[in-house]
Amino acid sequence: MPAREPSALRALPVWPDTWYVVARSADIARGAVIDGAIARRPYVIFRTAGGELGALDAHCPHMGAHLRSGEVLGDRLRCPLHHWTLDRTGQVCGAQGARRQGVHAWPVAERFGLVFLYPGRGAPPELPRTDAEDYAWITGEPVVLDTDWRAMVINGFDLQHMLTVHQRALTAPARFSRTGQGALRLEYATRVTPGGGLENWLVKWVSRDRIRVRQTCHGTIIVLESDLGRTRSCAVFGFVKTDAGAQAHIAFGTPRNGPLWRLRLRITRWSFLSFLRKDYAVIEKMRLKLDGVDDPGVQNLSAYLRSLPELER
Ligand code: FES
Ligand SMILES: [Fe+2]
Repeated sequence: MPAREPSALRALPVWPDTWYVVARSADIARGAVIDGAIARRPYVIFRTAGGELGALDAHCPHMGAHLRSGEVLGDRLRCPLHHWTLDRTGQVCGAQGARRQGVHAWPVAERFGLVFLYPGRGAPPELPRTDAEDYAWITGEPVVLDTDWRAMVINGFDLQHMLTVHQRALTAPARFSRTGQGALRLEYATRVTPGGGLENWLVKWVSRDRIRVRQTCHGTIIVLESDLGRTRSCAVFGFVKTDAGAQAHIAFGTPRNGPLWRLRLRITRWSFLSFLRKDYAVIEKMRLKLDGVDDPGVQNLSAYLRSLPELER
């Protein structure tokens, strides 16, 4: 008989009622259709000839064909089976439209080079944002790990692992707060300790060993803003449960100023990825357990996640 899931973990939503990052903008060319599911709700996303995204329930309102092999015609999606067409609002177009109800259109948006999807049926919450104005963004390859997505999001707030995994020592107590959007914010400062490899050496040099981080969790999404003194950077992570475990989409940003911003952007991506590889190595195959964990970051994030409403399944 399988072991029972620990109660502290069971209290956290598997599918919180928030925005989800489901793809990179570059993954959906004009005329392309992708599909997926959130909380067992299948969806398709298509990009119109004009470049806009539409997101709809995945099954055609006529006889239920899956729309992932549909064809984009102008600003509409044509069902592969009998060629009914749907617009981005989910309405059936043409002669059939008068007789048939359409499908639900999911709120969809693009930011930071990522595609955000809201699976709830009410009005969507405000999209996660950063204070970073005029940033240039670059995305990383999506990461799939055999673990719980909540292990990935909690890792970002796990203060103890900053030293053991990342060789970064806190230089002051971490501070927690709620933003105007209701998101959970963690602010902390660290310095580099020996043994962290090239990435830590570079960060230490650039920051003069004063690394300040502001990290905000919006349910399944974390916005991390770091201030390294001479340079600022940002990373946006979107986590989602998958059949294989958990998937993360990531975007990295730096200010678009000076002649070297492209180089700085690539160094930022490299630096974040070096940092994250250490997390992936220890989170892979992790079976998350929260009972009795006393790390204040883990406790605060758990309490925040517990407060989020869950999507109906
Ligand atoms: S099932 Fe889509 S048009 Fe018939
Ligand atoms: Fe980490």
